[in-house]
Amino acid sequence: MKSIRQQVLETIAYLKPHISSSLDIGFMTGTGLSETLSSLEVIKRFDYNDLPNFPRTTVESHKGKLVYGTLSGKSILVMQGRFHLYEGYTPQQVSFPIRLMQELKIKTLILSNAAGGINLNFSSGDIMLIRDHINLTGQNPLVGPEEPAWGIRFPDMTRAYDPDLMVLARQSAANTGIRLREGVYAGLLGPSLETPGETRFLKTIGGDAVGFSTIMEAIAGVHADMKILGLSLITNINNPDAPEQTTLEAVMETAQRASANMNCLLCDMISRMP
Ligand code: HPA
Repeated sequence: MKSIRQQVLETIAYLKPHISSSLDIGFMTGTGLSETLSSLEVIKRFDYNDLPNFPRTTVESHKGKLVYGTLSGKSILVMQGRFHLYEGYTPQQVSFPIRLMQELKIKTLILSNAAGGINLNFSSGDIMLIRDHINLTGQNPLVGPEEPAWGIRFPDMTRAYDPDLMVLARQSAANTGIRLREGVYAGLLGPSLETPGETRFLKTIGGDAVGFSTIMEAIAGVHADMKILGLSLITNINNPDAPEQTTLEAVMETAQRASANMNCLLCDMISRMP
C-alpha cells in the first residue's frame, strides 16, 4: 500500500513536465467561485480525472480542473474544485491538493469558499476575510502516522491565517472599493445545513460564518508552513430568530453574482504580492 506521500509524488511526476519548477501561489476555489482569477493567463489545464492518485470530485457545483498559469508575474496553481469530508473523503484526501502544493514548494495558499453568514451585520454577497477558524468537523488531517517530511506533530495554530496577507487584503479592499468583512469561520462536517439552534450555538462560540470546507486544507497548510489567506463569500445570512431556508441554487447564484468582487480583490492582492 502506497503512502499518501508516495501518491502525491507520483502525481507530481505526472505534472512536472508541464509546469514551472518554481510556483508562487496555490489557490483553491470555492462553490460558485471556480471562475475567479479570470485574468489568469492559462498555460495548462488538467482534468482531475487524468491526474494519477487524485481524488475525484463528486460535487456538481465544483469543476474538477487544475489550472496552471501566470498573473502579474506570479506563477499560480488553481484548483477549481475541492474535496469535502461530507463526500466521504478522508481528511488526508481532502488535503491532498495542499500536499501536492507543498511538494511543489508553494509557500502562499489562498483558500476561498462560499459560507453562510452568522454575524448579522453581514449581508449576502459580502466577502469575509477569515481571521481564524473553529474546527467543529471532529476530524483533522494530521491524525495518524507522522510524515516528518511534511511537518511537525503539534503545529501551532495561533496564526493560522497569515497577518501580512490580511494587511494586504485590507489594502486591496480599500484600493478596489470592495467592502471586506472580517471574522471567524466555523467549519462543520455537513452536508445538512444548520438548525437555528446550531446557528445560535455557532454565534455564541464566536463564529461569524459557517461552511463545510477549508478547515482540513488550512490545517494541512499550517503544517506545511504555508502563508494562508482565507476568504469566504457570504451567500446567505443565517438568523436563528428569523430562519430562512437555504438552497444550493441560491448559494450558487449569489456566489456567481459576487464572484466579480472576489476576482477583483484577489487580482489586486496578487499584483501587490512581493
Ligand atoms: N451553511 C453551510 N455552508 C454554507 C452555507 C450555510 O449556510 N452557505 C453556503 N455554504
